[in-house]
Amino acid sequence: MKIPAAAGFVTLMLFCLVHAEICPLSCTCKPLEEMKGWLVDCSSKGLKEVPALPVNTRKLYLQNNSMTTVRTGAFDNLQNLEEVNVSDNPWNCDCDILYLKLWLEDFSESFIANVICATPASSERKPLSQLSGNELDSCRKSLPIKCLNFFWRDLALITFAVVVLILTSFLLNTTEFPRKHLRKIVLCV
Ligand SMILES: *[C@@H]1O[C@H](CO)[C@@H](O)[C@H](O)[C@H]1NC(C)=O
Ligand SMILES: *[C@@H]1O[C@H](CO)[C@@H](O)[C@H](O)[C@H]1NC(C)=O
Repeated sequence: MKIPAAAGFVTLMLFCLVHAEICPLSCTCKPLEEMKGWLVDCSSKGLKEVPALPVNTRKLYLQNNSMTTVRTGAFDNLQNLEEVNVSDNPWNCDCDILYLKLWLEDFSESFIANVICATPASSERKPLSQLSGNELDSCRKSLPIKCLNFFWRDLALITFAVVVLILTSFLLNTTEFPRKHLRKIVLCV
């Protein structure tokens, strides 16, 4: 039992290491002088989405592709990033572009400057930096749904807590089990 588990763990670690440093298929990667990071050039490759990137990416070129949006969290693990270029892409500035907008604003104001929306028609040729949350198509519609999701999740949690409380008090009141132990168990939970 122990050996397969260890082997599995090692394989997983190796996979993670390789996966973390591998160059995306359609890009070229050059080590930077200090060998502590990569220049990842994925420009002009007709990419429709951001590929999986090496964790140590320092410079990232994604300009002149066919990307319309960026998956939420796509850049979150790039802790050493210094430079990014996402210009000349047909960005679809609906609610899903909010991640890219907020991430770029947080990363550096200068890199958002030439990020221009292509669609929807109401945002065509507008800089992403100038669009407010309300102008981002469908944001207004989707936000209440997210709130509703939180509501149902909270309701489920509260219901669960109430059920646990009822069960606990029921168990504490039964005389068949030694109460001391039960109290201990409940405290542990
Ligand atoms: C943009 O990419 C296309 C191929 O996808 C290429 O033909 C064109 O030369 C590129 N433009 C620039 C300015 O790099
Ligand atoms: C990004 O790339 C485009 C096209 O190559 C270039 O014109 C622009 O200056 C670059 N932007 C940044 C912020 O480096």
